[in-house]
Amino acid sequence: MSSRKRTAVLISGRGTNMSALISAALDPAYPAEIALVVSNVPDAAGLARAEEFGIATATVDHKKFAGDREAFEKALHAVLADHRIEIVALAGFMRLLTPWFVNAWANRMINIHPALLPSFKGLSTHERALEEGVKIHGATVHFVSADMDDGPIILQGAVPVLDTDTPETLAARVLEIEHKIFPDALAFVATGRAKVKGYSVQVSGTTEVIPNALTWPQA
Ligand code: GAR
Repeated sequence: MSSRKRTAVLISGRGTNMSALISAALDPAYPAEIALVVSNVPDAAGLARAEEFGIATATVDHKKFAGDREAFEKALHAVLADHRIEIVALAGFMRLLTPWFVNAWANRMINIHPALLPSFKGLSTHERALEEGVKIHGATVHFVSADMDDGPIILQGAVPVLDTDTPETLAARVLEIEHKIFPDALAFVATGRAKVKGYSVQVSGTTEVIPNALTWPQA
């Protein structure tokens, strides 16, 4: 039997990060298999994209649970259990999770955030980065803790902020780096190389050049 880790990708929208993970996992040598895509939004565009790749999909619509977060998460958990999921990757999944769910997936659930955490938690990260005049911006993949956009950082990718940037051009540059670091981070977790030590993560045997502002723009 394959030792690739059965991974579920949770989405709420278009799913470009989901597609990056699926594409990486098309390589049989990649250590995770995308076994399931789950959305809390029934018409999320990413669901159709996942189906095109032939991946099992499920919808757990939070609106059907009338604000009962626990019931929503129990239903989500049951779907993950049904599919024997080992790792959860949040890829634009726009629901806050309770400590119960987070603890159930401790050290097995990762999230991508479009900013260099701990800067710019929450929404509108690119607008705020421009307002604050930062010169370097980027994206972070981290293990999920009970606080929003918080938890031990696995990998970050940085990009320069240009004087001519709008939130849209900056978002596009960051998204490109997201698509690079998320598959790498999932691979680190799936192989067990990413070890949480206190509040940081050590990745053993890292020889890869992590994409960042120094390697941007790429040839
Ligand atoms: C991505 O930029 C992701 O980093 C962000 O949502 C977008 C989803 O795009 N996530 C968050 O803001 C979570 N705090 P995608 O659906 O094309 O992957």
